[in-house]
Amino acid sequence: MLIVSCSHGRHLGYLIAKRLKARHSNLIVDKFPDDELYIRFDCELENKDIILVQSFYRNISDCIIEVVFAARAAQESGARRVALVAPYFPYLRQDKRFRKGEAVSQLITAGLIDKYFNAVYVMDPHLHRKNRLHGVFKIKATKLTANPLVAGYIKNHIKNPVIIGPDEESYKWARNVADMLGVESRILKKKRYSSYHVQVKLNKKIDLKEKNVVIVDDIISTGHTILETAKILRKLGAKKINCICIHGIFANDALNKLKKAKINIISTNTIPNKAAKIDVSGVIAEGLE
Ligand code: R5P
Repeated sequence: MLIVSCSHGRHLGYLIAKRLKARHSNLIVDKFPDDELYIRFDCELENKDIILVQSFYRNISDCIIEVVFAARAAQESGARRVALVAPYFPYLRQDKRFRKGEAVSQLITAGLIDKYFNAVYVMDPHLHRKNRLHGVFKIKATKLTANPLVAGYIKNHIKNPVIIGPDEESYKWARNVADMLGVESRILKKKRYSSYHVQVKLNKKIDLKEKNVVIVDDIISTGHTILETAKILRKLGAKKINCICIHGIFANDALNKLKKAKINIISTNTIPNKAAKIDVSGVIAEGLE
């Protein structure tokens, strides 16, 4: 097995290789003056099982083209199999056509991966209406989760936790983590009006006395979901508010906005960021074994 870190996978690729005692190489990625991508493998590929590690954040479109170029180049250079490890896989949220004429970007993106790879491993995919990766990808697709790591972090760092899921979809993370810890949880209701405007509601009161609140969700993008949730929890008397997410996208300076609102943010390192305190390389390595 040869682990190859793509441009947005370097923070995890070498850690995964180290855990597996596998060989590791960085994909050479450059840009031409007109913005076209150049990629080259700096290692022998013939008869090898290649694992490309790429997390799809910031320049998402370039990240996609990069892995497509790399997978094709690996096949043409004689690789036996080419798999993709995606600590964060994008475009999973648009899983249906909400308005006439829209692209169902989830299936189109997955279709590209199907065409060029033999297998894909995705960490905590945001699956809503389809709950399984098999309905998304046609190739062998494996779902990995950081939930046990999140539960472990809470156990070691936060006393008397109560877990809050900010919306109906968050139960896969919030409730699952609460069950692992054997502690109380509550899932809130969210209405999204636009990317920057959400409203969060609590259905049933919750006693936060002597409890440390931990909001658990899969993604923080603009941070508005968490800011609105924190407002409600403060009205209920919560003092310190912690929030743990799997994928810290933190678009438009969201991490600073959340810090200013005095929310203690922790994320995993599926996407590198300043709040990344939970390392997922072990879970990925186990998934590849
Ligand atoms: C969506 O349902 C996800 O689980 C997150 O709650 C959402 O992506 C967060 O977005 P934002 O940080 O922009 O509110």
